[in-house]
Amino acid sequence: MKKKKLITVAIDSPAAAGAGTQAKLIAKKYKLLYLDTGKIYRLLGKFKLENSQITYSLLKKKINKIKLKDLNNKELLSDKIATSASLIAKNLRIRKMVKKFQKNCAYKPPKKFSGSVLDGRDITSVIMKKASFKFYITASLNVRAKRRFLEFKKLKKNISFEEVLKSLKNRDYLDKNRKYSPLKKTKDSILINTSKLSKKACFIKIRDIMDKKLKINGNI
Ligand code: C5P
Repeated sequence: MKKKKLITVAIDSPAAAGAGTQAKLIAKKYKLLYLDTGKIYRLLGKFKLENSQITYSLLKKKINKIKLKDLNNKELLSDKIATSASLIAKNLRIRKMVKKFQKNCAYKPPKKFSGSVLDGRDITSVIMKKASFKFYITASLNVRAKRRFLEFKKLKKNISFEEVLKSLKNRDYLDKNRKYSPLKKTKDSILINTSKLSKKACFIKIRDIMDKKLKINGNI
């Protein structure tokens, strides 16, 4: 029997644009492995905040030990860790160390999955250049700040709306203007602006795009 081609979905987005929510919905619908690559940088950002004497060799050891379940830690969601992650993510040597883990998840997911969906900042441009689907999900800064502020409120994190807005703006700048793997929309990515879309409406849009191509290719 002919082996079915993996369904590979690459998503890039600025922070709090709704990419994670959509990636989870995609993973559920098409039985894909989901990797939130930002969590890897957040894990390293947390490690840096906790260890003043950080070295490349310590980071490498940490990266080699990463398990998917480590990325579910709620502590990683703090704003301080997000900023630390963004600073660590500027470093090319560290990005290269993280690449293998991401590529493995993308192209060698466990057999029970039909493929993978990864979201981050350099997924369409670097990690999954040959993905079957590429999306660039975005929303206005104000909408993203409102969403993130509500998420922090739910998590009982004490942070004002103005601080959230300032922090997202700072991270947008760092992520879009860094030398290596900056966040950008690749020409072959489909742009989805979620500013005025509900989660459901956004997912229907993505699902329609995917189903159309998957039907033609005989995946579904
Ligand atoms: O997506 P999230 O907001 O959790 O990402 C935290 C930070 O990690 C980002 O601001 C970015 O600097 C970095 N990141 C990255 N490349 C990725 C994913 C995240 O540089 N693929």
